Amino acid sequence: QVASHGSVRGPGPGSLAATGPIHRNVEDAMPEARYAVFGHPIAHSLSPRIHAAFARQAGIALQYTAIDAPPEDFERILATFAADGGRGGNVTMPLKERAYALCSTLTARARSAGAVNTLTWRGEQWHGDNTDGAGLVRDLTGRQGLDLRGRRTLLLGAGGAARGVAAALLDAGILELAVVNRTPARADALVDALGQPDRAYSRYWDDLSNQGDFELIVNATSAARGTGAGTFNAPMTLVNSRTVAVDINYGEAAIPFLAWARAARCLHVVDGLGMLVEQAAEAFELWHGRRPDTRPVYEELRAQQVRLVTAD
Ligand code: ATR
Repeated sequence: QVASHGSVRGPGPGSLAATGPIHRNVEDAMPEARYAVFGHPIAHSLSPRIHAAFARQAGIALQYTAIDAPPEDFERILATFAADGGRGGNVTMPLKERAYALCSTLTARARSAGAVNTLTWRGEQWHGDNTDGAGLVRDLTGRQGLDLRGRRTLLLGAGGAARGVAAALLDAGILELAVVNRTPARADALVDALGQPDRAYSRYWDDLSNQGDFELIVNATSAARGTGAGTFNAPMTLVNSRTVAVDINYGEAAIPFLAWARAARCLHVVDGLGMLVEQAAEAFELWHGRRPDTRPVYEELRAQQVRLVTAD
């Protein structure tokens, strides 16, 4: 049962609570289709609210919970989830690479990312996709109205999150992608996996002041996650008059990088809340065949974030 893993049930009338025990021992009883987000920690995830809101819009009854899965227990917890009627899952940190490893089939974009954020139970096996990159590009080009084409782009970080967005940025028509990471070997590995040596290359963090300026700077590190503490430091020479700064984190975890971006006078400063809603919409469409209207959901979450940040 989910509850034994520390489940948090998504609120709202769109997320139907289970009305009774799941009859696993009765041969002809169909378990209720269930969906969940897995992570560690996970209690503060917004995904249950987002999927409940999408389900309300679509008039679909579904159960979407948040399941805390310590990495070493993830595979076992996921197997129990499938046995109990689990049909789809979102995966967040630090489980995206583990999710990739346990999938039997993968989309091309999940394979190139080496990370999975969306799982679908198909033919008794997990099928893995990665909707992070599509979510980021849709937020930037749709909601923010930005044209990504021709932008020299700097990607900070080379973990699962960075790998999820790198290929999508290249596909969206950016001019080139420089990847820097605290551990340089991971930046090299990311760039190798992209397989576009003329457009994507790694650079050293210490050498950033020699890299010129960029029209797009994306922070995909987890440096401020969990605490929101600390300052972000990088040369202000990275910024020009058109620079868009994006943190794929949101809330407190995005504060240090976005504070730097404002101080460096970036033209646009964007956090990861829109990407979160858009990657969820991609997953919802994969599972339920319907594209949600993300705008009201995003606006409600944004209003709440503003209230949180401005509250004492
Ligand atoms: P995620 O799935 O969120 O990407 P991850 O795979 O653990 O999580 O990757 C975290 C990223 O943030 C990595 O690029 C990591 O750098 P390392 O590869 O050197 O570990 C980066 N990161 C984490 N803490 C950092 C810090 N204090 N300063 C700079 N980069 C940091």
